[in-house]
Amino acid sequence: MPQAVTDIAINPPPSARIDELAPEFEARTTRGLVRLSDYRGRWLLLFSHPADFTPVCTSEFIALQRATEQFDALGCALLGLSVDSLYAHIAWVRDIETRFGVRIAFPIVEDISMAISRLYGMIHDGSATTATVRSVFFIDPEGYVRSLIHYPATVGRSVDELLRVVNALQESDAHNVATPEGWRPGDAAVLPPPLDQSEADRREAAQGAAWYYTVAQSRHDA
Ligand code: BEZ
Repeated sequence: MPQAVTDIAINPPPSARIDELAPEFEARTTRGLVRLSDYRGRWLLLFSHPADFTPVCTSEFIALQRATEQFDALGCALLGLSVDSLYAHIAWVRDIETRFGVRIAFPIVEDISMAISRLYGMIHDGSATTATVRSVFFIDPEGYVRSLIHYPATVGRSVDELLRVVNALQESDAHNVATPEGWRPGDAAVLPPPLDQSEADRREAAQGAAWYYTVAQSRHDA
C-alpha cells in the first residue's frame, strides 16, 4: 500500500541525497571486506544493478571495466552492488571473463539483506520487484553525495555520461564554475548565478543580454 503523503513528510523513505554525507556501511565484496570510509580521499562511484547474469547489467559492467583507466585518471574508484549473494557475484564475474575476456577488477558488494540498498534508496517501494534499480551515487573525497541518478532496470546507463558528471563536478569544485548543457571536459564553463542584484547589474553592464551565460574566461577568473 502506498505511503500517505503526511506519513512521508514525517518518516521520509531512507535515501542518500545531494550534499549529504553518504551513509557508512561495511560489506563483503568480491574483493574482500569494504567500508565506505575506506574511500575517503578519493572520488567514488557507488552503483547498483538489478541482478547478476542479466544482459543490460553485463553490458554495463563490461563498459565500466573498459573505462577504469579513465576513472583512475580522475581519482575515482568504482564499487558495484546488488542484492545477489557474494557467490553469485563471483560466478558472474567468472562468466563475464570466460565469455567476453573482460576481467571485472572493481569490487561488487553483496547486499542480500538489502540493508545498504534500502539505506541508499536503491530499492523503490512502488517497483514491482525488490531488485535494486540502476542507481549511481557520485561520492566526493570527503564522503558527501554530490550527484545521483536512478534508471529503471530496462535502461542501461551511459559510461560516457558517468565520466562527464565526475569531470563536471571536479571542474566546478576546482574553479568555482558551473557547467552548461552538454558540457564536455575542455569546453567553456559558466559563472554560477549572481548572488545579489548588484552583481546581476554588473554582469548586465559588462555583457548585456548575454549576462546569463557569463563564460568563465579562464579557469582562474571565477
Ligand atoms: C538486464 O540487466 O538485462 C535486466 C535486468 C532486469 C530487468 C530487465 C533487464
